[in-house]
Amino acid sequence: MSDKKIIAVAGATGAQGGGLVRAIQADPSGQFQARAITRNPDSEAAQKLKAIGAEVVQGDLTDGDSIDRAFRGAHGAFCVTFYWDHMSPERELADARTLAESAEQERVPHVIWSTLEDTRNWVPLDSDRMPTIHDHYKVPHFDVKGEANKFFKGSPTTFLLTSFYWDNLIGFGMNPKPDGQGSYTFTLPTGEAKMPGIAAEDIGKCAYGVFKQGDALINKAVGIAGEHISGAEMAAVLSEVLGINVRHHAASPEEFRSYGFPGADDLGNMFQFKRDFESDFRGARDVEVARRLNSELLNFRQWVEQNKDRIPLT
Ligand SMILES: NC(=O)c1ccc[n+]([C@@H]2O[C@H](COP(=O)([O-])OP(=O)(O)OC[C@H]3O[C@@H](n4cnc5c(N)ncnc54)[C@H](OP(=O)(O)O)[C@@H]3O)[C@@H](O)[C@H]2O)c1
Repeated sequence: MSDKKIIAVAGATGAQGGGLVRAIQADPSGQFQARAITRNPDSEAAQKLKAIGAEVVQGDLTDGDSIDRAFRGAHGAFCVTFYWDHMSPERELADARTLAESAEQERVPHVIWSTLEDTRNWVPLDSDRMPTIHDHYKVPHFDVKGEANKFFKGSPTTFLLTSFYWDNLIGFGMNPKPDGQGSYTFTLPTGEAKMPGIAAEDIGKCAYGVFKQGDALINKAVGIAGEHISGAEMAAVLSEVLGINVRHHAASPEEFRSYGFPGADDLGNMFQFKRDFESDFRGARDVEVARRLNSELLNFRQWVEQNKDRIPLT
């Protein structure tokens, strides 16, 4: 029987958790073993994790007993919730509570909670700076994560403040779009502000660094980014690396909210928050801290170079 310490990973078949499982298993001399939590251990994604040596267990955030079992005996628990799967703030809050309660009940010695700011601490609900969404939120998928921080107070927790995934340019519709005149438009409603971003895979690698550092980061907030970069600077890198002409469209938050796709209001408010409170938002995310946790950390140019064939141009 292995004497390695188990890290139980929520969202293991997804971006953040998957990066952590791969980081743990890529370090065979390390002190940890990944336990990947999935609703469906037979899925192709779960089987890929098994193939790299991860233990794969069934767990569903809507079934607290299954998360208790998944966390049992673990040294670490990586906790993340999945707002965009259901777009329900109440559901996300309930899922976060389930993760926190299971970690506390199973006395997990080191928990990472993947969180974001509760923007209502900057923009009160009665402020007309941006619309209120679902009666209780300004940026639902941020606010709920920040609100859920309190659930984790009963466990030794590191609060990991993540950043915008550059992978949103591949799978989230944020790729440069043809403008019909031979050039491309990259829409990012952050004006001239620099925005912290990161390769999604690097979040898991940084989380691995947090578990390796252990006690030093318990009860601390750790904010990570691969680079702080403006929309115009991103467009310039995309132009150079992709060999096309990409122009940054600094849409206003109002324009972005009016695009009307599901979540456009939430994301419009999110980008406005990042723009209007640039100093606080960037101040909470440190590239050097992230690099100390993960020596392979990518900047935006390196991420584009590695992913240039995956960025759609339609
Ligand atoms: N996109 C960004 O720029 C960005 C930036 C910062 C933070 N975030 C946040 O990141 C979170 C999502 O993380 P991610 O991108 O790593 O997720 P993801 O890639 O969408 O993966 C989610 C995984 O979670 C699992 N899952 C879904 N519902 C579940 C449930 N009820 N019980 C157990 N597992 C469940 C699924 O695995 P199975 O199907 O195998 O069960 C799925 O593979 C969101 O809340 C988002 O707000 C996103």
